[in-house]
Amino acid sequence: MTAQGLFISFEGIDGAGKSTHVEALAERVRGTGRTVVLTREPGGTPLAEKLRSLALHEAMDPLTEALLMFAARRDHLQQVIEPALARGDAVLCDRFTDATFAYQGGGRGFDWQTLSTLERMVQSLPSVSEASGVKLRQPDLTLWFDLPPSTAAERLAGARLPDRFESQPITFFEAVRAGYERRMSEDPSRFARVDANQSREQVWQAVCQSVHSRGWI
Ligand code: TYD
Repeated sequence: MTAQGLFISFEGIDGAGKSTHVEALAERVRGTGRTVVLTREPGGTPLAEKLRSLALHEAMDPLTEALLMFAARRDHLQQVIEPALARGDAVLCDRFTDATFAYQGGGRGFDWQTLSTLERMVQSLPSVSEASGVKLRQPDLTLWFDLPPSTAAERLAGARLPDRFESQPITFFEAVRAGYERRMSEDPSRFARVDANQSREQVWQAVCQSVHSRGWI
């Protein structure tokens, strides 16, 4: 019998410092003997990486932006995430669908219900139908690196050339943060909020604690 797959996503506003921990956790999970698929959104497949560069660099209206994020996600799920989970691998994904709710829903103010409709279209698992309705693919755990937007802005200052999201004002990131908060309130058991306003070592300990308490490392 194949081991059950494991799906962990990493979220937070730009500058929250999640990326180094994605790599480190991949190493820890590999240490348990699992194969790890380290990936990101938007992106993770050749097509989705093309959609990423459009979404991050070309001007477009909020619906187009949301559709591109979900189009990229659909390809990523079909080509990479679902096959990996079916093999019993661990998928560690730098951002997933909560980012769309936080950035397009919270940050851009795009309609939450429309995003939920797109989410159902893109993430439904057709083979698993339950009496309660269609089951959606969601991470088993979402680590939300929570940092005050003003601190994130200080960390990002002087970094490489900002993309369409990184160049947004603090008020945008406050709205993104509120979007994450709302998403967490809608499905609290899936989330672990990590206080990213501490030393890197303390953040890493919090990450390990969340994953360890679920018996995965
Ligand atoms: P990010 O994950 O921060 O990558 P990097 O570390 O290379 O900058 O960049 C992706 C950007 O895309 C980030 O600003 C958030 C944004 N984004 C959305 O707006 N919606 C989404 O659904 C996703 C996945 C990302």
